[in-house]
Amino acid sequence: MQIQTSEFRDRRWQLMQQLPDNSLVLLPAAQELIRNNDAEYPFRQNSDFWYLTGFNEPDAWLAIKKQQQAVQYSLFVRSKDPQMEIWTGYRAGPQGAIEQFAADQAFELSQLQAQMPGLFSGVEHLVLPMTAEVLNRVQPWITQQQKQVRRGVSWPMQWHELGQFLHEMRLIKSEPEIALLRKAAEISSQAHIQAMRACPQLEWEYQLEAELQYQFMRSGARSPAYNSIVGSGNNACVLHYIENNQALKPGDLVLIDAGAEYQNYAGDITRTFPVRGKFSAAQRDLYQIVLTAQKAAIDQLQPGKGCKDFDQAAVRVLTQGMIDLGLLKGSLDGLIESLAYKRYYMHGTGHWLGLDVHDMGAYKVKGEWRPLQPGMVTTVEPGLYISAQDQQAPEALRGLGIRIEDDILITEHGHENLTACCPKEIADIEQLMN
Ligand code: GLY
Ligand code: MN
Ligand code: MN
Repeated sequence: MQIQTSEFRDRRWQLMQQLPDNSLVLLPAAQELIRNNDAEYPFRQNSDFWYLTGFNEPDAWLAIKKQQQAVQYSLFVRSKDPQMEIWTGYRAGPQGAIEQFAADQAFELSQLQAQMPGLFSGVEHLVLPMTAEVLNRVQPWITQQQKQVRRGVSWPMQWHELGQFLHEMRLIKSEPEIALLRKAAEISSQAHIQAMRACPQLEWEYQLEAELQYQFMRSGARSPAYNSIVGSGNNACVLHYIENNQALKPGDLVLIDAGAEYQNYAGDITRTFPVRGKFSAAQRDLYQIVLTAQKAAIDQLQPGKGCKDFDQAAVRVLTQGMIDLGLLKGSLDGLIESLAYKRYYMHGTGHWLGLDVHDMGAYKVKGEWRPLQPGMVTTVEPGLYISAQDQQAPEALRGLGIRIEDDILITEHGHENLTACCPKEIADIEQLMN
């Protein structure tokens, strides 16, 4: 299961269709990052670069030029180097970039500066990510052009953010992308199920992380899509807790937010369950509110609905729950309007999901929350977090953090929960764990 060369070509074509004549798209690949001394972090390609090329090596650039309605796709890549390849592995080289990745022309990376005047020739529109890193790398090539204006050399005066075109494309997933997201979701679900099963016999948060990692890898997902969060007890109230180094205490809940990355596509699931497999009365009360909120939010998902409508649905259920449990006092509408509910629910209810876990694509268009469309994928992840230090909260609720997160595909007539096979009903979790 993988994206075909023809789909990468279609994406480049679709991108260039949106740009005026005399445009040049420039985009660098990701670079290798040092972990310590000369040891590197595992390489992960830049998602935009991957989306357009399917090329999985560091230290590359793509340049796509549109002139007189013809499109020319160039890749600059690491040179073939038999000596280096003995140490660090296979490189496609320029010839491979043409033969395997369908570049019209390809060069060694060292040729970038020399090839730029030709690429810039006649170009009026430069389309690139407007990040400091990319702008700094492009500036010397522009300067090189500017120094020669008296000789009639020109440089592109109109600069455009690449994301406004490319990220709109990434937002609507194609069938092959949906297949990969489905696979990432399935692997992630199985890993959560395994973590629940194993938990009653485990002692440390990192042992749960190990169960996740093992399940991801043995299913072909070579990496988590983001650092796994395994927070037991009060650690669940730290939203991005990744230390995962505390003891699992009987009687506590544990919150796991973890997803597999499969062929660069992300899963993103959160489940919260009792360390020893049985919810207490207070845990049950709080959990049921989050679960009801999550289902109310998912019910909202269908084409044409505003992409924040489901957030409001969750907030209403959660805030009513806060009133019912004595966490907040006041009227439902008043507590929502004043944002008082944020004391216990401080994050949004979802985000786009795709090549990046927090995927690309605008949420607002012309100042309005955009309507949902088939092919969009969003998470739905309400939670309630009551810190152990919260003197205002009923004592039985202090130190409880609960989040429930699924990955939802918008379909033509509604939605499909890609992570539906991961249990979230109290009875199903207790049965699985016992
Ligand atoms: N795991 C990050 C998130 O759920 O947004
Ligand atoms: Mn998550
Ligand atoms: Mn998420």
